[in-house]
Amino acid sequence: MRIDPWATAQFADYGHLLEEFGIERFEGFELPRPHRMLRRGVVFGHRGFGLIYDAIVRGRPFAVLTGLMPSGSMHLGHKMVLDQAIYFHSLGAELFIAVADIEAYATRNVSLEKGRELAIEQYIKSYIALGLPRERCQIYFQSTRRAVKDLAYVLGRRVNFSTMRAIYGMDDSTNMAHMFSPLVQTGDILHVQLKKYGGPRPTLVPVGVDQDPHIRLSRDIASAHRVCNVTVARDGRAGVFVKADEGVDAILDIAESVATSLGFRALSKIPAYRALYIDDATTADIPALDEAMIAEEAKISPHVFFPPSSTYHRFITGLTGEKMSSSRPESAVFLCDPPEGAGAKVMRAKTGGAVSVEEQRRSGGRPEECSVYELLVYHLIESDGELDKVYRSCRRGERL
Ligand code: TRP
Repeated sequence: MRIDPWATAQFADYGHLLEEFGIERFEGFELPRPHRMLRRGVVFGHRGFGLIYDAIVRGRPFAVLTGLMPSGSMHLGHKMVLDQAIYFHSLGAELFIAVADIEAYATRNVSLEKGRELAIEQYIKSYIALGLPRERCQIYFQSTRRAVKDLAYVLGRRVNFSTMRAIYGMDDSTNMAHMFSPLVQTGDILHVQLKKYGGPRPTLVPVGVDQDPHIRLSRDIASAHRVCNVTVARDGRAGVFVKADEGVDAILDIAESVATSLGFRALSKIPAYRALYIDDATTADIPALDEAMIAEEAKISPHVFFPPSSTYHRFITGLTGEKMSSSRPESAVFLCDPPEGAGAKVMRAKTGGAVSVEEQRRSGGRPEECSVYELLVYHLIESDGELDKVYRSCRRGERL
């Protein structure tokens, strides 16, 4: 199975995705004032969220970057990444929002001019209405941010066609702009760690799970650019292992002073293995060592990054029962819909109700199958207690 970020399919079995792709379950984090999407399991998975959690707990800098393609109109499904971005900003993140106009051009045939117009009218105005903060926050276009495009080109050096085929199913007929767009997205994700944009720091990318291929690619590319591996080797010894061919001795000296400054003593430097073994370090010490090494490596190389972290949210069901999609306006509530128009769509929505009033009173409704209940869970009811009341009264058949 392959996850296709440009397909229109809906995912049904999220548990299966966790297993097949090694996505971790989002659980065990005690965040301040957790957002309703986190409390209610709408955000179900992550990669590397530990780095972000750690930054939040320690009050250390971190970034959040997400993006949307300006291809149709912004609907409630798109709103979820913005909600998360605004929440993590409230916990201290610096926020970056990409307008993916290059991707829309490459994969949806939306011209850059049209993309700009859609972005401003449909997306950016909505972001502002949702309460996007003024401080520590920027919105940018892929097509006009030079650092993103340059980085895409530089990073492309580490990716070959067989990787693109394996991850995305690209083939001989894939156009080159489309082929390049995942690298532009990797450019989005990693450019916030360039010196000019704040330097290496943990970066969270909240997305729908369809975007996981881009996250995997970005994490692989980030790791390929490291100067060293900081890890517990197969023989069970922790250490810093130099990947570069040149300047090995100097890098090992740096590693040695990093390890010493963190209080480790059982060090043995073996240049022939390009290794600094740290025998008094364990798996639990790796994150601190790695963080300190990233800071040092960044002085040697401009392209050293923390592996980007991600959260994955479930897709909201459309009002018609299928995927919520801009291409089926009756399935979606658009942020720019007039209230009466949105209301009319909701009144026609697929619910979990019984076929008649008598039946509903007798056997109750099925909120699990109700697209209107989902609107409440994802977006419209903040209080868990109030939501629970709605759920119960529906089940008991008190609600019609
Ligand atoms: N590919 C995303 C979409 O289809 C948009 C996007 C572009 C994005 N760059 C990004 C999302 C960076 C997250 C991070 O909507």
